[in-house]
Amino acid sequence: MNNLIIFSTFSLLVSLSHAIEFDFCVGDLSLPRGPQGYACKDPASITTDDFVYTGFRGERTTTNIFKNNVTLAFADAFPALNGLGISMARLDFGVGGVIPIHSHRTSEVIILTKGSIIAGFIDTTNTAYYRRLKVGDVMIFPQSMLHFQVNVGKTPATAFVSLNGANPAIQLTTTAIFASNLPADIVDQITLLSNEEVMRLKRIFGTA
Ligand SMILES: *[C@@H]1O[C@H](CO)[C@@H](O)[C@H](O)[C@H]1NC(C)=O
Repeated sequence: MNNLIIFSTFSLLVSLSHAIEFDFCVGDLSLPRGPQGYACKDPASITTDDFVYTGFRGERTTTNIFKNNVTLAFADAFPALNGLGISMARLDFGVGGVIPIHSHRTSEVIILTKGSIIAGFIDTTNTAYYRRLKVGDVMIFPQSMLHFQVNVGKTPATAFVSLNGANPAIQLTTTAIFASNLPADIVDQITLLSNEEVMRLKRIFGTA
């Protein structure tokens, strides 16, 4: 009997500790972000505008070295996502444009809305899964896997992605290695690339 009471009390505490305390918690970007996200904006000041993100409108230019343009609707740009474990991004590719190999803290689902791309990921056994997508096709990149997209069409391409985190982050392998402050001799050693090639890439990213 005692065990039952203890068990029931424990279960009640566990369920209470998982209780949802509010309908939403639009992030207050004026306060620091903690491990669970931002503090909540005063509900009295929230309007429909908080729940609508208009940053995906319009055309994009693709003039960077990767011939891409990435528009993030993560919690920083769209604070209504705070605490909801979901976010989006728009990916634009010029002809020959790529999203270079990268990873997030989350999974990602992509839908191609314009053009033709090859999308893929590489798992921890070094198996690559990649496919040429047609408009309307959807592909999933499982949590934390390195993945990429390449415009293989003769026209610009556009895709939208959703990620199961409000602040999923992006870590691009190429820029992590060559645009960071890591010294060239260490980069040579940890990549097996020649020093000439490492210096060429560090110059491209302004770190040589
Ligand atoms: C993305 O496109 C917008 C609109 O053309 C432009 O203002 C912005 O500079 C572009 N960003 C990059 C990184 O090319």
